[in-house]
Amino acid sequence: MKIVVIGGSGLIGAKLVKNLRGLGHEVVAASPSLGINAVTGEGLEEALHGAQVVVDVANSPSFEDQAVMEFFEKSSRNLLAAEAAAGVGHHVALSVVGTDRLLQSGYFRAKLAQEELIKGSKVPYTIVRATQFFEFVPSIAYVATEGGAVRLPSASIQPIGSDDVASALADFALGAPVNGTVELAGPERLRLDELVRHFLNATIDARQVVTDDKALYFGAELNDLSLVPGDQARLAQTRYEDWLS
Ligand SMILES: NC(=O)c1ccc[n+]([C@@H]2O[C@H](COP(=O)([O-])OP(=O)(O)OC[C@H]3O[C@@H](n4cnc5c(N)ncnc54)[C@H](OP(=O)(O)O)[C@@H]3O)[C@@H](O)[C@H]2O)c1
Repeated sequence: MKIVVIGGSGLIGAKLVKNLRGLGHEVVAASPSLGINAVTGEGLEEALHGAQVVVDVANSPSFEDQAVMEFFEKSSRNLLAAEAAAGVGHHVALSVVGTDRLLQSGYFRAKLAQEELIKGSKVPYTIVRATQFFEFVPSIAYVATEGGAVRLPSASIQPIGSDDVASALADFALGAPVNGTVELAGPERLRLDELVRHFLNATIDARQVVTDDKALYFGAELNDLSLVPGDQARLAQTRYEDWLS
């Protein structure tokens, strides 16, 4: 099968490309650094020629409200139009668990716009909403840092490793389109403040986590259910503690 991975040089994309090639598929890794740009359309038509599946795991270079909205709207419109023209039979996109509960944040408004464009197109699709990657914990800490303090709420979080995300995405890409949304999460519920405190201690980082249930997560207020998946989520096996060590 010919599969195009948009964002094929990224954290998830590079692992997904490797997994799919390992299973014997013809895989095009697509990204601006590889000459294929979903926002400008450069190289898209050629890359999609003869493809059966497109997996979109691209991410915006800027998280600023307007820039991130433009990125996901333009790239999704271009991709879905090019896929329809090329006769692609399955569009798989990676989104985030709780996207519709986090709309105070410009990033999540843009992810919801991406999801709505996919649902409104004629291309059969699977939207895979994953929880936060283990590898994303340093970015959570960075964005929440004020001076030497990291202010975070104690809301539940069920993070997942990027290897497990890439492995599940390969299964979804090779399966039939769900024409709906599936959820993907790690095996255990943790607390956001404790998760980051544990990471900072383990990496001998002097910053102190201050628990503050009013502190925002990328601009959005959290409650205990904001970041966690529903009962039907596919759960991965790798625990954060094992991954960290
Ligand atoms: N971080 C999390 O915890 C989390 C949780 C759930 C879901 N997600 C979702 O997972 C997805 C992938 O995240 P990631 O961390 O793997 O991303 P990443 O490592 O930042 O990689 C981003 C990829 O997008 C590519 N890209 C940027 N601009 C592009 C364009 N105009 N056209 C085509 N490709 C472009 C980049 O290519 P270059 O290398 O050439 O710039 C790179 O390959 C995102 O959609 C995100 O919303 C993330």
